[in-house]
Amino acid sequence: MSLADVAYAPELPSHDAEIEEINAEAFGPGRFTRAAYKIREDGPHARGLSFVATANGQVIASVRLTPIAVGEGRAMLLGPLAVRPAWKNLGIGRKLLTIAADAAREKGVTAIVLVGDAPYYGPFGYERVKAGTMTMPWPVDPARLLVKELAPGSAGALLGPVVHADRAVE
Ligand SMILES: CC(C)(COP(=O)(O)OP(=O)(O)OC[C@H]1O[C@@H](n2cnc3c(N)ncnc32)[C@H](O)[C@@H]1OP(=O)(O)O)[C@@H](O)C(=O)NCCC(=O)NCCS
Repeated sequence: MSLADVAYAPELPSHDAEIEEINAEAFGPGRFTRAAYKIREDGPHARGLSFVATANGQVIASVRLTPIAVGEGRAMLLGPLAVRPAWKNLGIGRKLLTIAADAAREKGVTAIVLVGDAPYYGPFGYERVKAGTMTMPWPVDPARLLVKELAPGSAGALLGPVVHADRAVE
């Protein structure tokens, strides 16, 4: 079990079963009751902006981005991010976060939203969403609703209910 064995790659459909297993292991059945899950349920994630870490031919970590609409604004919802227990605390989660944000920026995405622990995501530029700007479909601890601007000022356009981009009313 060494970092030298770890490779990072765009997610493929053939990774789906292992990713599901990793998320079940990391979040348990409670994952189906999370606000972010509710949004992801309404449409596909962005396969091209989702990444896995593999080692010895197995998926050991995954991060997904899903397109969202927040009022007139558009962004990506990050998550789930999960690393197999045996591979935690080796920097794999951080690396996946960086890869996903770089790929999103490259594709013209201007902001990434997530529900997660601020102490983990803060160093990557995720800040608490301003009160009264975005509303999630289910209640979320406001301290865990975070946004990272990929273009300066982009969070200002994210006003309203957060929905999957496929559900956006044009
Ligand atoms: C959270 C998670 C993705 C981190 O991935 P990882 O590859 O283990 O973490 P990294 O190696 O990138 O970073 C490790 C550092 O993050 C810290 N960290 C890990 N989880 C944290 C959390 N929830 N809050 C704050 N810090 C956290 C570790 O203590 C460690 O700190 P150190 O560098 O000061 O020792 C992983 O632990 C995991 O899959 N957890 C279960 C699922 C989960 O909670 N996902 C996040 C949803 S918000």
